[in-house]
Amino acid sequence: MILQRRNRIIRRSAAIRAMVAETRLHPDDFILPVFITEGKDVVEAISSMPGYFRRSVNKTIEEVKELWSMGIKSVLLFIKCNDSLKDNTGRESWNPAGLMQQSIKAIKDAVPEMIVMTDVALDPYSEYGHDGIVDVQSGYILNDETVEALTKMSLSHAAAGADFIAPSDMMDGRIGVFRKALEENNYPNVGIMSYSAKYASCFYGPFRDALDSAPGFGDKKTYQMNYANRLEAINETLQDVEEGADIVMVKPAMAYLDIIREVRNAVTVPVSAYHVSGEYAMIKAAAERGWLDEDKAIIESLTAIKRAGADLIATYFAKDAVRLLQAS
Ligand code: PBG
Repeated sequence: MILQRRNRIIRRSAAIRAMVAETRLHPDDFILPVFITEGKDVVEAISSMPGYFRRSVNKTIEEVKELWSMGIKSVLLFIKCNDSLKDNTGRESWNPAGLMQQSIKAIKDAVPEMIVMTDVALDPYSEYGHDGIVDVQSGYILNDETVEALTKMSLSHAAAGADFIAPSDMMDGRIGVFRKALEENNYPNVGIMSYSAKYASCFYGPFRDALDSAPGFGDKKTYQMNYANRLEAINETLQDVEEGADIVMVKPAMAYLDIIREVRNAVTVPVSAYHVSGEYAMIKAAAERGWLDEDKAIIESLTAIKRAGADLIATYFAKDAVRLLQAS
């Protein structure tokens, strides 16, 4: 044949493929979720997240030092709250001496440059496992009362030294209220990474095991989004940007690559994607059975998420990815 164009030319060798690669992963792309529990010297395995752990604050510090030395520069903190401290107000969430607040301080003391992001939602603190305050009569999650509680929570994270608060609650109007509260309380440099398009997803199952935060009744469909919807993600995201979000997020990631792309095209702020616990567990489970090559599945998944338009990826595979990138 005499062809005008031979598309395979740019795939002919590893060096050529690398030269024309449109997407490259870098350690700066990753945010590592970190689970913290009470106690000392505690490192607990999470059965539905093999290879992932909950650690006490002192063990978390050791881990964070290692992360920094590897080139991972941001962590997203979650805590597992004692059952005795859970109620329907979430008041433990703004306790200045609470586990989250202690953890933020300890990490910023140990590794001041580490970017500390904190989950803002009531589920770890809620006796009902919901992200907000429950109207006990109807089971509905009260929007405005929840935003008021979460504002206190956000300010307490800022006071402890958080760099970014990361609201994952999906209440209406919270970003504007948090921005205003941060301004008024003299935290002008604390940022907001908003879970803007967070879907009601079964892929959060292992995370709820990890933090013992599964909803006690019902589901989260009156606040998290319906996975059938696309335009709603744009509405949510544009509104969060308008209200002052510094970074927006799409969650989950792998089954929502179309949403990541649309959001990336719709806004001019950084876009993050959360490669969630169930997405981690799927790869781990298949790899354990020898059905998938774990390392290849990790890099392909993360590259696809970035190609879809994510500037940042919150992923439980951040350490593996950095190791694999260094080895390649
Ligand atoms: C809670 C929260 C969840 C996750 C992050 N923040 C769970 C939920 O909404 O039920 C999920 C993370 C994951 O699955 O990795 N506000």
